[in-house]
Amino acid sequence: MPTKIEKDDITGRDTTGHEWDGIKELNTPLPKWWVNVFWVTVLWAVGYMIVYPSLPHVGGIWGYWSRGELNESLEEQRAQRAGFVGRIEKASLTEIRRNDELRNFAFAGGRQVFADNCAPCHGSGGAGTRGYPSLADDDWLWGGTLEQIHQTIRHGVRNADGDSRVSQMPRFGADGVLKPAEISDTADFVLAMSGAQPASPASQRGEALYKEHCIACHGEKGEGNQELGAPRLNDGIWLYGGDRASVVQSIANARAGSMPAWEGRLDAATIKMLTVYVHALGGGK
Ligand code: HEC
Ligand code: HEC
Repeated sequence: MPTKIEKDDITGRDTTGHEWDGIKELNTPLPKWWVNVFWVTVLWAVGYMIVYPSLPHVGGIWGYWSRGELNESLEEQRAQRAGFVGRIEKASLTEIRRNDELRNFAFAGGRQVFADNCAPCHGSGGAGTRGYPSLADDDWLWGGTLEQIHQTIRHGVRNADGDSRVSQMPRFGADGVLKPAEISDTADFVLAMSGAQPASPASQRGEALYKEHCIACHGEKGEGNQELGAPRLNDGIWLYGGDRASVVQSIANARAGSMPAWEGRLDAATIKMLTVYVHALGGGK
């Protein structure tokens, strides 16, 4: 097709020289202002790439980078934290609990560490599940004072730690101390004591066996013994289930739950924060 630029009679503008079946195309350039803005944005982009770190070796000529900004704010937080952590390390558990600032800091830190390390066993918020005691009630196996909780968390229960809490309920069935019928009677007594079941001739037979074999740890009235981690049996709160079959299991085979020691895995300040947090969960003794 021949290209011939000519003037359009009606608009007075040049044509591009393209022509289709007698229709000619006008040459309509972009407005000047638009083209100028376009070039300004191109220049802006080049400048931006140089000033803001986006090109290796060239970028960031004014020393700005967003990670630097992040580091600065982290540094600031760390300094603030370090102050608190140092104070927590020096303060006694009671002092932490009594001081509003330290207590709030310990709660926030404790909650976080608890969610990461303890919730897998004890449930979120320490609600507990079968075999893993609730830490959010005021029923304690090993005691609910700050010192007792601190000891439990540092050294754990029935593990290899030298200061771990120990004590072992005998396996009355598995080790042949009691016959199955005797275990059944004892279970009836335990259930009657907890209020789950009325007294019966079976539970009366069980009472004599209980007095002989169980009082030393669980107490005369089933009140439990925190020195030995022996649960209260008369309160309707069960670690391993309060239905008859579960209670028979507990007596026949014992359970021997184990809780890891945290000293060495968590630093001293963190364990103190956890202690104050767990103590508050359970209402605090
Ligand atoms: C692997 C599971 C497991 C993990 C993880 C665990 N615990 Fe335990 N914890 C247990 C068991 C099981 C017991 C009950 C032990 C027993 O039978 O006496 C227990 C008992 C306790 C007790 C004593 C409760 C009472 O009634 O006296 C406290 C306090 C406690 N845990 C706190 C913690 C804290 C805090 C953490 C996290 C740093 C934690 N536990 C992590 C399994 C665990
Ligand atoms: C040497 C101490 C000791 C003696 C003796 C003992 N227990 Fe226990 N008992 C424990 C401990 C410690 C636990 C905590 C569970 C565990 O980890 O083994 C427990 C747990 C239980 C439980 C489970 C409680 C729950 O909350 O689920 C029952 C039921 C129970 N004992 C009944 C008995 C009966 C009945 C006898 C006597 C025939 C007896 N125990 C004798 C220490 C003892």
